[in-house]
Amino acid sequence: PRFFAVVPAAGVGARLGADVPKQYLEIAGTSLLAWSLRPLLRAAWIEQVLVVVAPGDERAARACAALAGGARERLRVVAVGGATRRDSVLAGLLALDRDPGCGGHDWVLVHDAARPGLSDSALARLRDRLDGHPAGGLLALPVADTVKRAGAGGEVAATVPREGLWLAQTPQMFRFGPLRAALERHPEVTDEAAAMEAQREPVLLVAGERRNFKVTTRDDLDMMAALLGDARP
Ligand code: CTP
Ligand code: MG
Repeated sequence: PRFFAVVPAAGVGARLGADVPKQYLEIAGTSLLAWSLRPLLRAAWIEQVLVVVAPGDERAARACAALAGGARERLRVVAVGGATRRDSVLAGLLALDRDPGCGGHDWVLVHDAARPGLSDSALARLRDRLDGHPAGGLLALPVADTVKRAGAGGEVAATVPREGLWLAQTPQMFRFGPLRAALERHPEVTDEAAAMEAQREPVLLVAGERRNFKVTTRDDLDMMAALLGDARP
């Protein structure tokens, strides 16, 4: 099978609340989008990396121009983003299906533009653990903290046993045909795995890593800057 990647980058970053969408904020002179693309472009087994941005978005081309020359040949930007992450990912899958064309059993890795901390080793682990798997899976982390459910007025309504709970990360890697069908049938989902689960497909949890957290708030951005700030891109 062949391997492709789709990077949804069409969000507005409302919770972070900067004057540009968060994927264009920079750490050590490099945009979060470019940081997020780098491990995918370093993985020579991924044939094409498709970035999905909002219609009319002109920042993506500039962010991608900052990436090293050779890697850019496998990078494509399409301005077909939609109203939700699911819409953006599905539009990316349809673009891949038209060009270069995807077989039903080829693999697609979906990785958030807002996860700049992914390591080469976690990416390789995802691929290795899914070798021969019929459907696919995702990087995720077991919940380590005690989990509370909030009631009205900010008081605790319940303590939720953390046993068996995992936090979903990306990349999420699935067979192209089943993933496309699942996303078409389940517009309500917030990740690819949920669409596959709704189709009763087996979804494998693969150990992720703390550093692969999603930059959602200003606090996250500060934390990621501390992590990547001194790193060589
Ligand atoms: N995304 C997308 N299209 C959308 C919404 C989100 O491609 N309509 C992308 C984001 O750009 C991001 C990833 O999906 O890379 C994860 O989404 P999230 O963290 O929710 O980003 P935003 O939607 O931009 O942030 P917020 O929800 O705070 O507005
Ligand atoms: Mg969002």
